[in-house]
Amino acid sequence: MIKVAFFDAKAYDKPSFEQYGSARDVQFRFLETKLNEDTVELARGCDAVCVFVNDTVNAAVIDRLYEYGVRLLALRSAGYNNVDVRAAFGKIHVVHVPAYSPYAVAEHAMALLLTSVRRIHKAYNRTREFNFSLSGLTGFDFHGKTVGVIGTGKIGRIFIDICRGFGMKVIAYDRFPAQDSGIEYVALEELFARSDVISLHCPLTEETRHMIDAAAIEKMKKGVVIVNTSRGGLIDTESLLEGIKARKIGAACLDVYEEEADIFFEDRSGHILNDELLARLISMPNVIVTSHQAFLTEEALNNIAETTVGNIRSYFDNDGLCDNELCYRCGHVERCKKERKERCF
Ligand code: NAI
Repeated sequence: MIKVAFFDAKAYDKPSFEQYGSARDVQFRFLETKLNEDTVELARGCDAVCVFVNDTVNAAVIDRLYEYGVRLLALRSAGYNNVDVRAAFGKIHVVHVPAYSPYAVAEHAMALLLTSVRRIHKAYNRTREFNFSLSGLTGFDFHGKTVGVIGTGKIGRIFIDICRGFGMKVIAYDRFPAQDSGIEYVALEELFARSDVISLHCPLTEETRHMIDAAAIEKMKKGVVIVNTSRGGLIDTESLLEGIKARKIGAACLDVYEEEADIFFEDRSGHILNDELLARLISMPNVIVTSHQAFLTEEALNNIAETTVGNIRSYFDNDGLCDNELCYRCGHVERCKKERKERCF
């Protein structure tokens, strides 16, 4: 039996992880707390740890895990910006779930966009109080509008297909454009200048942090709608707020927020929200916030659990390959060993 400390466990995680874990002799110790330097002790006696997007896996946490004999860190997410993969290299193997349902995220991005532009959230609240006025609910047609997609990987491409279904014109920016994809790639500046809607689907890296800042917003069309289902750090939130207050940004649809780690995923309705920036954003009539919910479909939860358990078994059963492993060298043409089908170290 492989013992796994499962940090930041939520009620919706347990059924699928228990089902796939018990079928393959992987036992999860579900812990409600997030992993960080203060809680890492809870991983003692476990063979592996399983973490999510807001667990902190920095060099200090990695050293402690290594000291406790943990040799595998299994992310139950695609993004891994919360893990210091360089510090983990040579000590702890890191595996992730590269794709569980790109449809879930792309569909949520469109759900947010439609809700915002057609004012569904306002109409819902009104009719519940028998207020049938249409005042202030005017939206705009998607048909014929230009959507700028930043990041044309798995999720970005599905989002593009959905937008095309609405008759939108799609332009895109990607650091590594997909060849023969039929996508019209443009420079980032051009995307900012031409788009009626901008949707972010690239990872958070040193390069992409605050790619939407005051200078970028300055280049955008007045009334632009910004959708972020990727990572909060892609947007400089203060600049976003300024852009909204200046009426430059028409609407913002946010499933992620740069300071979400201590706020999202929990019921804070009985508490005073100490994050002024988030409180101000939420108070805006043209901002919709969901709390990192884009992945949350039944299909995605099953795929996440199945792949994570598979990743864990692959590491412990297999001396050679380690499914879905990643490290700081992955993707680097000269240094990446993946082509040779070996472990990262
Ligand atoms: P992917 O790896 O398939 O695609 C990412 C794309 O971004 C690639 O085409 C890559 O070339 C591009 N890219 C890399 N660096 C870039 C840069 N500097 N500028 C522009 N483009 C760049 O990833 P996938 O599966 O499509 O996921 C995208 C992001 O969605 C993830 O990184 C993650 O942060 C986020 N995500 C959010 C979820 C949620 O629940 N809100 C759930 C799953 C993923």
